[in-house]
Amino acid sequence: MDNPRSFIVITLFPEPVSGMLNSSILRKAQEKGIVHFTVLNLRDFGNGRYRSTDDYPYGGGGGMILRPEPVFRALQFARERVCGLQENLQQGDSILPRIVYPSPQGRVFHQKDAWAWSTDPRPIIFLAGHYEGIDERILLGHSIEEWSIGDYVLTGGELPALAMIDSIVRLLPGVLSDPQTVRNETFSGDLFDYPQYTRPPVFEGMKVPDVLLSGDHARIGQYRREKAREKMLRVRPELLS
Ligand code: ADE
Repeated sequence: MDNPRSFIVITLFPEPVSGMLNSSILRKAQEKGIVHFTVLNLRDFGNGRYRSTDDYPYGGGGGMILRPEPVFRALQFARERVCGLQENLQQGDSILPRIVYPSPQGRVFHQKDAWAWSTDPRPIIFLAGHYEGIDERILLGHSIEEWSIGDYVLTGGELPALAMIDSIVRLLPGVLSDPQTVRNETFSGDLFDYPQYTRPPVFEGMKVPDVLLSGDHARIGQYRREKAREKMLRVRPELLS
């Protein structure tokens, strides 16, 4: 079997990150050996007795900034850890990880990026920032990619890192039981997902549309495309053009 795809998250909040990575589909992907997750506590790389990781910004302004040294040490450790995971690579094979800094100033991550990253064998190190940001010298010195998950501001990089990991891992072969689902879904085809129904046939006076009970697959397909298109036109018309 191929090496598991490796994802490393550097964070000040390892418990909630591990909690998500060890739940549901992500946990199963790891149990199946498709992915390997490592969560590193940035505080373990902190400065001095108090393992300090942040400080005031030069030039004033509110908030705290992540200091460069703890982040540098954590990145070094992550790189070595990544290399350690890739023992059976041939000499000369590239094991340089991709380093991703989730930030509202980054390029916006879309489904097409999730697809591209799902076929890129490089390990990914996510550096989850907190406070007001990170010392710029880390970003300048390490060919770090800045990526955003949308035009709004969160308090830290953990949720974006988890969102990106989740969107990539579910596309890896063997992770979802029915691979067809990821090909048809919203953003992977041309249209939104169609509306779905399950039992009971009547709920709160609302009936499941007759066509779905008809067994006529051509009509069902047509009905679903129409409904998907209708919703897209209503909610995200710019995607239809
Ligand atoms: N950190 C804070 N807000 C963010 C966003 N929208 N995307 C990625 N990282 C972030």
